[in-house]
Amino acid sequence: MELASGHTVEELEGEELKRMERDFLGYTDGAVRIMPGRWFFPSAFVKFAENYYKFKFRESDVVVMTWPKCGTTWTQEIVWTMRNNPDLDNPEAKISTFNRVPFIEMDTILASKNIPPSEDDAGLMAAFEKLCPDGDPKEGIFFQIAQATPDSRTLKTHLPFSLLHPELLDTAKVVYVARNPMDVVVSFLHHSRLLKVTDFAGTLDQFVQYFVDDDLLYGPYWLHLKEAWERRDHPNLHFVFFEELKKNNLAELRKLNKFLETNLTEEQLQKVARYTNFSEMKVREDQQADDLRNSLANQDYLNSHGGFLRKGEVGDWKQHLGLEHKAMIDHWIERHLKDIGVSFPHSS
Ligand code: A3P
Repeated sequence: MELASGHTVEELEGEELKRMERDFLGYTDGAVRIMPGRWFFPSAFVKFAENYYKFKFRESDVVVMTWPKCGTTWTQEIVWTMRNNPDLDNPEAKISTFNRVPFIEMDTILASKNIPPSEDDAGLMAAFEKLCPDGDPKEGIFFQIAQATPDSRTLKTHLPFSLLHPELLDTAKVVYVARNPMDVVVSFLHHSRLLKVTDFAGTLDQFVQYFVDDDLLYGPYWLHLKEAWERRDHPNLHFVFFEELKKNNLAELRKLNKFLETNLTEEQLQKVARYTNFSEMKVREDQQADDLRNSLANQDYLNSHGGFLRKGEVGDWKQHLGLEHKAMIDHWIERHLKDIGVSFPHSS
């Protein structure tokens, strides 16, 4: 089967599918690889792929693009706050980030578990009904919200450039966030155990193997990064490293201020920096605990291991990965990243 992007779909089957379904209890509806690239998704991706590829970006859009666990939530909160709430007085900031920063392909991720629509997700459904009065939830709630959100949108995606509209970068601004793979693996393991849509039941060893085999949700991190890195000189693309954002936060916000043309004062930037630091965001995460997050998470795991904002540190992998895991990921870096010239600052 050929997609609008020219990719073809390979369905997982046989022993491979059985193994995945055993390790990821959330994969209940099959999985696909999108070729070339080996992008890995639940089968529901196929239904939405054309919509994603043809999604119309606007000049006023800012798209926060990352592979999972590279700091999307943090960066999208910085970007949204810089654009909409630099004096921290906008009541809309209280709305769940899911409704302020539409996550373009979230319907794909939720489809196998049928979350939402459900009566529990009142906030999301209210936003959907308001923005898309004639919309059909079956055609993707998040997708239609993303489409219908008025200017100026701040959008989130984990999709790579090759699965999105070819004119994305000539139309809208993109903030791409990268993070060192060791911390990404540890963060993604937590996430994959926390979320019902993945519900990883395997071991750390197995998870690292899935990562180096490019078999985790969304597929190869290195190729995602490569596609962005190759475009790094485009004036509409701004690269952020999680590690820089952590170490030189205000300096990174100044760069974003220039890129986004937000013209914030130094005082406003300092306010944004404080408002979006880990501890402040963690407090808000706990207070907001909205319906969608509740329906997404395994509550036992959430209570014993914490939520989406886990540690927010650079180098935490050293507490979790052994020498053999490090060697596997080093080898992965050697094979895939050395020749494209990306290195992760302050990460070792
Ligand atoms: P950890 O699991 O290492 O703590 P994403 O938003 O792409 O899913 O990335 C999640 C990672 O970003 C998590 O990493 C999370 O804690 C971290 N993060 C979120 N907000 C942050 C903040 N304000 N400062 C630092 N890290 C943050």
